[in-house]
Amino acid sequence: MKNILITGGTSGIGLNAAKRLSRDPKNNLIIVGSKNSKGNLALKELQINSKNASFLKCDLSSLNEIKEFVTINKLPKLDVLINNAGAVFFKKKFSKENIEKTFALNHLGYFLLTNLLIKQNLIKKGGEIINVASGAHWGVELNFKDLQMKSNYNGWIAYKKSKLCNILFTKKLSQLLKKQNISVNCLHPGFVETQFGSNNNCFISLGIKIAMRFGVINIDKGTQTLLYLLERNLQVTGEYFYKNKISPSSNFSLSKINADKLWDESLKIVSDYL
Ligand SMILES: NC(=O)c1ccc[n+]([C@@H]2O[C@H](COP(=O)([O-])OP(=O)(O)OC[C@H]3O[C@@H](n4cnc5c(N)ncnc54)[C@H](OP(=O)(O)O)[C@@H]3O)[C@@H](O)[C@H]2O)c1
Repeated sequence: MKNILITGGTSGIGLNAAKRLSRDPKNNLIIVGSKNSKGNLALKELQINSKNASFLKCDLSSLNEIKEFVTINKLPKLDVLINNAGAVFFKKKFSKENIEKTFALNHLGYFLLTNLLIKQNLIKKGGEIINVASGAHWGVELNFKDLQMKSNYNGWIAYKKSKLCNILFTKKLSQLLKKQNISVNCLHPGFVETQFGSNNNCFISLGIKIAMRFGVINIDKGTQTLLYLLERNLQVTGEYFYKNKISPSSNFSLSKINADKLWDESLKIVSDYL
């Protein structure tokens, strides 16, 4: 059995990847999302093909819930972890622990869940970690003294920065896990027609839906690079993929100093939960 955990597996890219993976009876799928109703509907879709699928609820913007998720659930040792749950918050919001929500969900969610799973020895040697990042990371830098954008919040910029964090996290983690032969890569799926943005007010959701009419790719195309990484079991680590190929990412995302700084600052924030 291949144990695959997909965060944000209840809609969009995560659910579509799960559906494709459910066709292989050797895959045991665990999808994670914050809403029971949505999770159970997604699970029904997976169960059309698979007996080996389950849904677990967790608000991945909450450090406390992530800690509980890893300690209370009897998770199997994972072959694959896909960090994919993400959102954009045009109006500033805060997590249960009072952390700006884009940073909490899109970066700290990946960071804490992965580190807890590693600490509990729940990722197999030779396993894979895939972080869903975005081409939106281009054109921004991080202010390490104000990672939560306490001054001057802008929802779209906060999202872009969080996706930059995904790449820096991938770079650092891939180095740390080399000895255990666990590969860590990230990807840009393309501009994909999903429920992305629908958590915002109706005008913004509508705006995103309209934008999605232009230049958007369908969900199957938007899942291609993720499935490519899974199916090929490539012997590469620390890379950023787009359209099934290693692709360039911004200069800021390539700096080891930046990756180290983000790692250290993130550790400080989650230290009580590790
Ligand atoms: N769509 C695009 O064009 C695009 C482009 C580049 C990158 N991406 C990235 O792709 C990833 C998936 O997005 P998508 O486009 O597939 O959007 P989506 O359809 O909105 O899916 C987002 C998933 O994340 C989950 N999620 C959101 N908030 C959560 C929370 N607090 N706790 C746990 N799970 C949560 C959602 O489940 P619940 O609602 O049940 O919580 C859902 O399963 C994101 O990381 C996004 O940044 C998307």
